[in-house]
Amino acid sequence: MTRPLYCKMVKYRMTSKGTDGSEIYWDGRHYDAFNAPVHDDLKFYLAQARKARGPVLELACGTGRLTIPLKKEGIAITGLDQAAPMLERAKAKAAEAGLKIPFQLGDARSFILDRKFKLIFMAFHSMQHLGRREDIEGLFASVARHLAPGGRFVLDVFNPNPHCLVRDPEEMLPVAYYRDPDGGGKILVNETYSYDKAAQVSRITWHYRSEKTGKTVKKSLNLRCFYPEELLALAHYNGFSVAARYGDFRGRPFGGASGEQILILAVR
Ligand SMILES: C[S@@+](CC[C@H](N)C(=O)[O-])C[C@H]1O[C@@H](n2cnc3c(N)ncnc32)[C@H](O)[C@@H]1O
Repeated sequence: MTRPLYCKMVKYRMTSKGTDGSEIYWDGRHYDAFNAPVHDDLKFYLAQARKARGPVLELACGTGRLTIPLKKEGIAITGLDQAAPMLERAKAKAAEAGLKIPFQLGDARSFILDRKFKLIFMAFHSMQHLGRREDIEGLFASVARHLAPGGRFVLDVFNPNPHCLVRDPEEMLPVAYYRDPDGGGKILVNETYSYDKAAQVSRITWHYRSEKTGKTVKKSLNLRCFYPEELLALAHYNGFSVAARYGDFRGRPFGGASGEQILILAVR
């Protein structure tokens, strides 16, 4: 399976809404099953962490999809996320692997930790959960407070695709197929998509259909779009300069056709 279009997960039990109303982070096991095929960013973030030569903080670390492999490579890493079910899963996986990783429940917009980092990163489009100007200001201010001298802040977000933004909201497209960690057989995830032009937010619904029971559970996912010049302006007016800008995780330069916007930022 190829990299899913958006980060994922399924549901059956409790629902905890994220700070932007997204409902998909209720169970880290489903998140991991859904995202098992996603690896294309790991090498990139490992290279950034090695280059930093110091402590690393991953914001919105989720289930430790990146945090844990980085720790295995000897990186001194801390993970922070606002979703308790995601962190529980991250902690369980780290314990199973015999790794000591500080996982912290917290909000990327307002966190306070007692140490500074040479690298802070926010991967897998997680910044797109921060929809309002105040959210972004809080994020950049919190990052700036926690960066050691010469430190870098690295983030990736989608490059908005005009073809997606005009999708028919009635159109249902398949996005993933995975095995239910609760033993319910295969789960097929379909997606409906509607673009909120005023808020610049992709309002997505994932429909998780259990092959075994035939039941479908719906969960919302909101992803704020950042247009390329807007993202640069937000970084600039929040006190950061761009050290590098890429269009994919192989390090190709950013261009209009790039799928990703990857920024390496430094405090000005
Ligand atoms: C797409 S997932 C990425 C998880 C992980 N970084 C990965 O690459 O698999 C987005 C994550 O952002 C987290 N998140 C959303 N808003 C947040 C916020 N304001 N502060 C901290 N974490 C947040 C969610 O709980 C979720 O774990």
